[in-house]
Amino acid sequence: MKSTAAYALPAEAHARLEALVDRIEAQPGDLIDLRQFQEMQQRLDVGATVAALPAGLSQDDFAGILKLALLTECATETYGACFAERAQWFGTPWLARFNERVWVPDELTHHTPYKYILLNMGFAEAELDREIRHVQELDFAHRGGDTPVHVATFGIVQEYLTDNWHGLIASLLREASPAAAYMATRIKRRETLHTVWYRDMVALQIEANPALVPCVAEALLRFEMPGNQLVPHLQARVGAWMPAMGADFERITRDLVRHVYATLADPALAGRLVMEIARERDVSFGPLAPGVVQAALNRLGGPGYGLIGEAVLQSVGLAYLFEHKRGVQDSAFLPYGGVYERVRSLVRSWIARQIDFRLDPGGGA
Ligand SMILES: [Fe+2]
Ligand SMILES: [Fe+2]
Repeated sequence: MKSTAAYALPAEAHARLEALVDRIEAQPGDLIDLRQFQEMQQRLDVGATVAALPAGLSQDDFAGILKLALLTECATETYGACFAERAQWFGTPWLARFNERVWVPDELTHHTPYKYILLNMGFAEAELDREIRHVQELDFAHRGGDTPVHVATFGIVQEYLTDNWHGLIASLLREASPAAAYMATRIKRRETLHTVWYRDMVALQIEANPALVPCVAEALLRFEMPGNQLVPHLQARVGAWMPAMGADFERITRDLVRHVYATLADPALAGRLVMEIARERDVSFGPLAPGVVQAALNRLGGPGYGLIGEAVLQSVGLAYLFEHKRGVQDSAFLPYGGVYERVRSLVRSWIARQIDFRLDPGGGA
């Protein structure tokens, strides 16, 4: 269903987004050439990895991990159609062009390497092709929100988690099946670029219209991996697989906060985002309901929200992102800066302790 959220950007912001897509189109990075992977097929020895899987992962788990990558990547055209539709609804040809000329052609190369790896493991081609066709024909609803800010925010999280998934697979394969690990790593690198491109798209939109911050909050709240709809039987096992694959949840949370913070580049906007999420989720800050905190912050303006934003960064180990800026500011207000900063730091630490990020390990490809 089409979202009714107000979406408006000044003309020069659209021009900057067009220029961003021009740059991406001109320099799309190290695209995957499937002919190279086809030639590498003979050198695959996935059986050696299967024989030495880490504790807690069976051969069936490993096949499921690879199939989740295969089957969520093979539905590129399904996702591409959702994004194209939204780009048209909101009159953003830059998003339509990025999707059609860069993202879809790139993503179309991501599932075939997993097919090669699964074939090497002993799966029959006809069976894999049947599963691929089944997923490609499924109906898919993009529930992450509709505006180009929603779509690009969804992109940041989805691409980052996918990047992480290919990386975990590559590390399982690295020692015993280096050729297969190489393939997964090449795909991972593409997802890293996609994450950064979507991050730049959100940043340019928010910079041009900070009133769109609630769209970022909404997209984060509504986020779900496409695997939940397309291959729920596999996606449901991700939470059990990730620890056995060596996933570092703290790093994942920290990376995601860093990516989202980079789109706002301002602790006060980050604070607004957090309060928007807290209000929607009805998360209280200590004894205070989010509505009460938000009303107080609205009276305080930027500084109050800034404190919340900094507390979030502090709680995930990213305090350096605001500390280096603060050092410059405080030196201008010394000696008062010292006292001010001590009080501020006490309040910030209290808020940071109230914030409990528990990442739902709903990763996947
Ligand atoms: Fe992909
Ligand atoms: Fe991607």
